[in-house]
Amino acid sequence: MKVLLIGAGKGGSALLTILHEDKEIEIIGVVDNNSLAEGLKIARQYNIPTYTCYEKLITRKDLDVIIDVTRNPQVLTDIIRNKPANTEILGGLSAKLIWSLVEERKKKEEEIQKSLSEQKALYRIGIMISSAIEMNDVFQTIVKSGLEVTNTPAGSLALYDAEKNELELAAVHGFSPECSLKATRWKVRPGGLASRILSQKQPVVVPDITEESAMDTRVIFAEGIRSLVATPLTAEDRIVGILYVDDYKPRTFTKRDISILELLATQATIAIKKAKTRKQLELKNLELKRTTDYLQNILDNSADMIITTDIENNVVEFNKGAQEILGHTQSESVGKPLCGFFADPVHCNQLLEKIRQEGKISNQETQFVTKENKIIDISITLSQLKDTSGNMIGTVGISRDITEFKRTQAQLVQAGKLAGIGQLAAGIAHEINNPLSGVLGYAKRLMKKAEDEETKKAPGFESFQREMKLIVDSALRCKKIIEGLLKFSRTSETVSIAVNINEVIDESLVLFGNQLSSQNIELNKILSPNIPTIRANHTQIQQVFTDIIINAIQAMSNGGKLTIATRPVNSSAVEIEFTDTGEGISKENLPKIFEPFFTTREPGKGTGLGLYMIYRILQEHHGHIDVKSETGKGATFVITLPVADVDTQRGNASDQ
Ligand SMILES: Nc1ncnc2c1ncn2[C@@H]1O[C@H](COP(=O)(O)OP(=O)(O)OP(=O)(O)O)[C@@H](O)[C@H]1O
Ligand SMILES: [Mg+2]
Repeated sequence: MKVLLIGAGKGGSALLTILHEDKEIEIIGVVDNNSLAEGLKIARQYNIPTYTCYEKLITRKDLDVIIDVTRNPQVLTDIIRNKPANTEILGGLSAKLIWSLVEERKKKEEEIQKSLSEQKALYRIGIMISSAIEMNDVFQTIVKSGLEVTNTPAGSLALYDAEKNELELAAVHGFSPECSLKATRWKVRPGGLASRILSQKQPVVVPDITEESAMDTRVIFAEGIRSLVATPLTAEDRIVGILYVDDYKPRTFTKRDISILELLATQATIAIKKAKTRKQLELKNLELKRTTDYLQNILDNSADMIITTDIENNVVEFNKGAQEILGHTQSESVGKPLCGFFADPVHCNQLLEKIRQEGKISNQETQFVTKENKIIDISITLSQLKDTSGNMIGTVGISRDITEFKRTQAQLVQAGKLAGIGQLAAGIAHEINNPLSGVLGYAKRLMKKAEDEETKKAPGFESFQREMKLIVDSALRCKKIIEGLLKFSRTSETVSIAVNINEVIDESLVLFGNQLSSQNIELNKILSPNIPTIRANHTQIQQVFTDIIINAIQAMSNGGKLTIATRPVNSSAVEIEFTDTGEGISKENLPKIFEPFFTTREPGKGTGLGLYMIYRILQEHHGHIDVKSETGKGATFVITLPVADVDTQRGNASDQ
């Protein structure tokens, strides 16, 4: 449709913009006798030809419509007279009618557009709030959306601290940087805007601050603000903040504006609530993590074994202490039955039954088996593990390896016992020594007396002489024992010199050269060349080695192997190990072998003082002796002696 527009004033311009948008319409020209008319400018922008006189144009054959908005009767007369027959005329009034109809439609479209953009903004905020991590982002979005949907230039969101009666700025938008809204926290002023909102709990609308008399608006007025809406953020009937939208000119806010701002305020409240919950959760998690770390730390750093189980008594936690002592890794142990770690599973079940009934057992002694099948003594404290409702969900056991402690304890008992027996024996020895000398002396005298020819002839002399000899021999044997006992009760006589252990071993072995080979005993010497010198009584140490070797030879009556090894330990001690492959020592005899007079030898063959004296000598030298043996499996004696200190070591050089 080809259209000619005559008149390019206000009405013409408006029509031009509307018609121009219509694809069906082709505007062939715009006419106005005022070449500066507004409509002509617009037409040029649209590339539409412009004219200052219409006479020729109105005669054009292809014209469908001539629109005349000049309201000049002369113009209308000219058009009617000269236009082609088929061309229609649209006069001023009808043009105005069309214009207002189009305008109306445009307004409607704009409204639809606006509500669409409001919905979009709300939707965007909804999404944002449900996924936002940063509260500040949420607040910024809410303020920006508030401005967008109400078409205001500036706004802010402040959080209300009821305890201090203060507001704190959480987000701000559209204010110039020099604006005093930079203040981030302020007291609620009595009679001010915030005060009003807090009391009425409803949005406060101020279309024109200059006409506001009920409130003290001096502060906001000073900011240049002329109109505003302040909407409270309400959670469970308490105000937690205020959303402001502000304009620098007076304006009316529609009901729709306010209800949208209320909606935004609700969203902001939800966001605040969510943030608070999240913060609390984060704190709880942190607390939980701290507690877990703390407990894990205890578990990891405890030298004791901490083992927890589930209700079926299968391992759940197996700490580092347990891993180190028992040799099993955590993954090897988790899920395995607890009783599998006990040397005696029956005892384990008894303990578990006991805690089921009594709730706890403390410092119970039992035995565990290590990965290497070694049995260790442990002290265990076992308790029930309970859930929050008090139901038993498993057990927690804290155990300590007391093998070493028990050994030391046994040694102490042994040492005490031996010391007591030693004193007693020494006392008795002393008392017996004199009468025994008498018995021996008189027996010898009697024997001598009987040596004259007369007595020899007497009947039964031979048996008399034999019996007298038995008396003398027995008395001599008693004397030997007593001398031995007395020797070790006089400890102060010990003389210490620098001693090389390897040399003493060789000296001792010289005595047995033949005996070893004739008894089919193989000798294996592993003497460390780096053995440090010790300070000792040479003769006594030699006696120690000799007695141990004799015992070993006696234990290997059918041959075997004797291994003698020396080695330094931590540069502070030396170890001397004697291992034989003889008959070994039974479990019952093992604790008794260091006691004086304990012997398994035939009567008259052993005094049972050998190991007792070894024990005493080593004690005087601040050393000790350990034994490992089983019936039929040979015996190992390990002697530990302290190394002389550095000065002594140097002194040794000059001793030698
Ligand atoms: N190497 C060994 N193998 C097996 N049993 C041993 C060994 N050494 C010591 N014994 C046991 O320990 C006991 C005590 O030894 P100890 O040396 O104190 O006395 P004894 O050898 O019996 O007598 P004595 O040393 O006076 O001749 C021995 O009778 C023996 O049963
Ligand atoms: Mg002996």
